[in-house]
Amino acid sequence: MCGIIGYVGTRDASPILIESLKKLEYRGYDSSGIGLLDHQSHLIVRKSKGKIKNLEELLRARPLPFSNIGISHTRWATHGLPCDENAHPHTDSAHHIAVVHNGIIENYAELREKLKKQGCRFLSQTDTEVIAHLISVLYKGDLKLAVQKAMARLKGAFAIGVISKDHPDMLIAARVGSPLIIGLGDKENYIASDVPAILDRTRRVIYLKDGQMAVLSKGRVEVFTFDGKKVRLKVDTVSFTVGSAQKEGYDHFMLKEIHEQPAVIAAMLKTCLPAGRAAHQSGKLKLEGLTISDKALASIKKITVVACGTAYHAGLVGKYVLEALARLSVEVDTSSEFRYRNAIIDKHTLMVAVSQSGETADTLAAVREARAKGAKVISICNVIGSSLTRESDGVLYTHAGPEIGVASTKAYTAQLMMFYLLSLKLAQVRHSVPVRQQRKLIKDLQSIPKLYREVLKTKTTIVKIAQANSHFGCFLYLGRNINYPTALEGALKLKEISYIPAEGYAAGEMKHGPIALIDEYRAVICIAVRSHVYEKMISNIQEIRARKGNVIVVATRGDRQIAPHADYVIEVPFVDELLSPLLTVIPLQLIAYYIAVKRGNDVDQPRNLAKSVTVE
Ligand code: AGP
Repeated sequence: MCGIIGYVGTRDASPILIESLKKLEYRGYDSSGIGLLDHQSHLIVRKSKGKIKNLEELLRARPLPFSNIGISHTRWATHGLPCDENAHPHTDSAHHIAVVHNGIIENYAELREKLKKQGCRFLSQTDTEVIAHLISVLYKGDLKLAVQKAMARLKGAFAIGVISKDHPDMLIAARVGSPLIIGLGDKENYIASDVPAILDRTRRVIYLKDGQMAVLSKGRVEVFTFDGKKVRLKVDTVSFTVGSAQKEGYDHFMLKEIHEQPAVIAAMLKTCLPAGRAAHQSGKLKLEGLTISDKALASIKKITVVACGTAYHAGLVGKYVLEALARLSVEVDTSSEFRYRNAIIDKHTLMVAVSQSGETADTLAAVREARAKGAKVISICNVIGSSLTRESDGVLYTHAGPEIGVASTKAYTAQLMMFYLLSLKLAQVRHSVPVRQQRKLIKDLQSIPKLYREVLKTKTTIVKIAQANSHFGCFLYLGRNINYPTALEGALKLKEISYIPAEGYAAGEMKHGPIALIDEYRAVICIAVRSHVYEKMISNIQEIRARKGNVIVVATRGDRQIAPHADYVIEVPFVDELLSPLLTVIPLQLIAYYIAVKRGNDVDQPRNLAKSVTVE
């Protein structure tokens, strides 16, 4: 779960590699490293534990010589501690070959034992190091052939970049499962884990396929299958641009991204909702990228949603909305479970794959599984041109802009909004919602950006509540019905940035176990907005109070009934309960943020996490 960049050309490689590598830090920040061949073909490797800024500091202290060829890597540790020794690139014992790797080599232990017997000296605990040694023992003067033979012996998912001191104008890349692209420049070529990493250098790319390897020099790129057959090059010209993100005065990207939500949602609504009088009369939605005909949409029998983490929580809300509006049966699964359970899906199933990054390995695998069974796949995705968007039949872009904070906020609410819009679209083609109700829904959706601003105005109260409760060692989040996923999302936000154990639960399930946790040392955050399950939530809250739990309630503005039951009340404006998850999550994002800040944590890059999980 790492990012890799390689360069071969005429310019100085190291600044290019480092700048592009920074764009891949979302894939991991446990360590980073760079490997170059200087003009005497010496292989020089520098690596450092922690973020890329540590590597930059090292390079300032020990500058690298001019070089035309190199590879670099940012790591999320899978095998072995995040330390200097385990940072990539890894080399063979003779220090002739250097390798960077994204993925997992599943048979590394067995290979390592064999290679040790052949005299290879291992310096790290990583699975990657076996690749360098394996290529080295297979090398008989032809680097391409050695890599090709090595590929046949590796099991798992991987993308690699290889250089060798014996081939100072040759950069080799290969992939199975993990993404890797080739960028074509003028007298220079690149390899990268994603397109945005090299987009300011070239727009001409080749998407390497599974089971392919590439040999790059400054003036040439050749692609081969692992059995050595040459492949005709298919060069794509990328038309999208990638915005760069700055904190713009906010202390953290996460806080900025929370505040961007009204604008993100307003922009989505502007693009998708009917504009102009005639369009307004017809009420027809424009979901650019859906690319499935109304007739085909009308014939769908079932929807399966797959996603991970926060995107999975968006999918859980989506289930309630799709079932309510489109009247279709919806199942939601985490991608990692879906891919191994031999799910019953066929050509009458629509899969909706949700992902901010579009690079989540399990979600990509789930999509491949569904398509192999004949299902059509629509992805809800934020990153333009990502792997998921290239593997889906249709793409609904959330256009939330770059999300830098590892804890997802604006991407989540944009995913929610896309579920409302998709549900409405399906309702229109399936005639499952009367036109008058559709118009009311559209009007309600249009009010959301304004209501977001109102919630954000209550920030001072939320900050005080967060600070007053930041000492609790355990949090429980409770919600019912469509706000049950909100409880899960609130707990996930708190866990990932404050490191406080937090559990999200369906409030009705509380008596079946979690109530045992409640005492005066726990904080319980309850979502109890006006809805058909409001009274049930009040009963649950009373049960917590009876056991001395500290209760923070997210309630509908003006609800006087709630105060006696709560230690703290956070108000959100009234909306139809179907839309309430759009609002109730905002205070939970802010609570998590301010508790993490109070605890002095690295909010934007919390420990052990990566923005995008590119290994399973
Ligand atoms: C969200 O705060 C998390 N960092 C994480 O759960 C994330 O939502 C998950 O890894 C899925 O990522 P994706 O949306 O890029 O597929």
